[in-house]
Amino acid sequence: MRIGVFDSGIGGLTVLKEMIKYHPDQEYIYFGDTKNLPYGTKSKEELLEVASKVVDFLVSQDVKIIFIACGTVSSSIYKELSGKYRIPLVNIVDTTIAEIKRKGVNNLAVLATPATINTHIFKDKLKDVNVLEVSCSQFVPIIENKVESKFKKLYIEQYLKQIKKECIRDVVLGCTHYPLLEKEIKNYLGEVNCYNMGTILATSTYLKPGKRNLEIYFSHSYDGLSNKVNEILGSKVTIIEKQV
Ligand code: DGL
Repeated sequence: MRIGVFDSGIGGLTVLKEMIKYHPDQEYIYFGDTKNLPYGTKSKEELLEVASKVVDFLVSQDVKIIFIACGTVSSSIYKELSGKYRIPLVNIVDTTIAEIKRKGVNNLAVLATPATINTHIFKDKLKDVNVLEVSCSQFVPIIENKVESKFKKLYIEQYLKQIKKECIRDVVLGCTHYPLLEKEIKNYLGEVNCYNMGTILATSTYLKPGKRNLEIYFSHSYDGLSNKVNEILGSKVTIIEKQV
């Protein structure tokens, strides 16, 4: 079965990687919309416009299901977007929230993009949990080379200091880019449980094994993109640049 996976950039690869790990025998088509990155500071109208173009492309590639490997799209425009298509679109944030409920966590920090935090989706759907919401607007630009990495330490401290102060041990990486900073996050916070939405999605999904294949598209290629993709996936892959 052909499976679409998409995000604004390389973040969704943290999801694809987990999907491949738990469901290797599938035909994956990944799309990273680097031309329109970041998604996390866009309005709902802008998001719907750019995400629809990506989904249109994936549908044209004959995918039978789409995993939204983007917290921002899942939290902000899921209803509007999924309502436009006949094939199922899987919401990574709702899947994560269901898992947190199962775990019975009391105190939780959620790191996410401004757009996701503005929806208050974790707070609203986890009524019995104390949720500290942290908007991390600069993490994605740092990860995608749009902001110099020398500012990384500064932003880690700025965004995480309240979590440290309140000794919160359970932290949702509510944007799929953030597992790429997990080491730095743990270095600063000490031993915390970081919830990787890709792992949660992959382990809570059943897929009948089929043919194995991988196609990777990005709407804009930048210096070092290919190396980052290979590094995240742990293998050498070919990137196709495609405007949608
Ligand atoms: N990786 C995305 C998310 O999960 C989008 C980040 C962005 O482009 O701002 O929210």
